[in-house]
Amino acid sequence: MNNDRLNEYITLINRRLSELIPECDFDEDVVHRAMEYSLSIGGKRIRPVLVLECCRICGGKIEEALDFACALEMVHTYSLIHDDLPCMDDDDLRRGKPSCHIKFGEEFALLAGDGLLTRAFGVIANSSLARHKPMVAVNAVSALSYLAGCNGMIGGQVVDLKNEDKEATIDVLETLDRLKTGALIRCASVLGCLCAGADEIQTAACIKYAEKIGHAFQVIDDILDVIGDEKKLGKPIGSDADNKKSTYVSLLGLEKSKELAYELTDEAIASINYFGDEADFLKKLAVDLTKRTN
Ligand code: IPE
Ligand code: IPE
Ligand code: MG
Ligand code: MG
Ligand code: MG
Repeated sequence: MNNDRLNEYITLINRRLSELIPECDFDEDVVHRAMEYSLSIGGKRIRPVLVLECCRICGGKIEEALDFACALEMVHTYSLIHDDLPCMDDDDLRRGKPSCHIKFGEEFALLAGDGLLTRAFGVIANSSLARHKPMVAVNAVSALSYLAGCNGMIGGQVVDLKNEDKEATIDVLETLDRLKTGALIRCASVLGCLCAGADEIQTAACIKYAEKIGHAFQVIDDILDVIGDEKKLGKPIGSDADNKKSTYVSLLGLEKSKELAYELTDEAIASINYFGDEADFLKKLAVDLTKRTN
């Protein structure tokens, strides 16, 4: 998935993320350290990259979208910290390092997740874009709170947990994945479009693309949970089976799941033809995500 623009985006995102965790202004900084730890130990940064690139192809300035992109990565990182807790998936490894609760304890991991979620909205509110175009920030807060919330990512986690120990139908699995994974990836496209002041056609195309790659992303995530290499993946293999989760692999089998991911990727690519050559980066990203090993 290497190319210059991707590396440039990731460098910008990582640099800005490291500036956005506030200093501790009292004498117990364990939650600050836990927030910093989970944010800085890795992660592909797919969601913030998507924010920046959707903004760019819709005619916006990536610097203006950077804080929105980082806010979304904070929300995503919080969702992973909580997802790994013993009361959720109970996974000890994340981004190739001990999960936040292994390193800092459950109580502080919980608070670090809360801290990242809370900070994300402050990052949007305090961004320079919010000062110049306050309505863009208001709309971004609204989109992020909806898509990360109980009818978005959190809702997906609820359906995921409620379906442990039983065989879900493919319809339930689609709802679950559209929410738990799809919602934040969709949010990336929405934030990018908002920052650029995109028109309806541009916004619809970016959202369709994000929905399709978001769906493919979870299908691949399920596949990697079965055939991935734990060292490369940076999180435990077999977690879904251990937790008796229904996944694309458990319902469709490996081969059909791969076919589904390729089909969804083709649909994602078709949905951004409107942008012509400007869509090349996103098209390559969609294909590269089907080949990912982490
Ligand atoms: C993992 O997301 C959780 C899912 C929604 C499948 P990523 O695969 O994007 O995780 P990082 O950010 O690269 O660690
Ligand atoms: C979690 O899905 C998605 C969220 C954190 C919202 P998974 O439980 O499949 O993610 P991984 O496989 O642990 O990264
Ligand atoms: Mg989970
Ligand atoms: Mg998990
Ligand atoms: Mg998974």
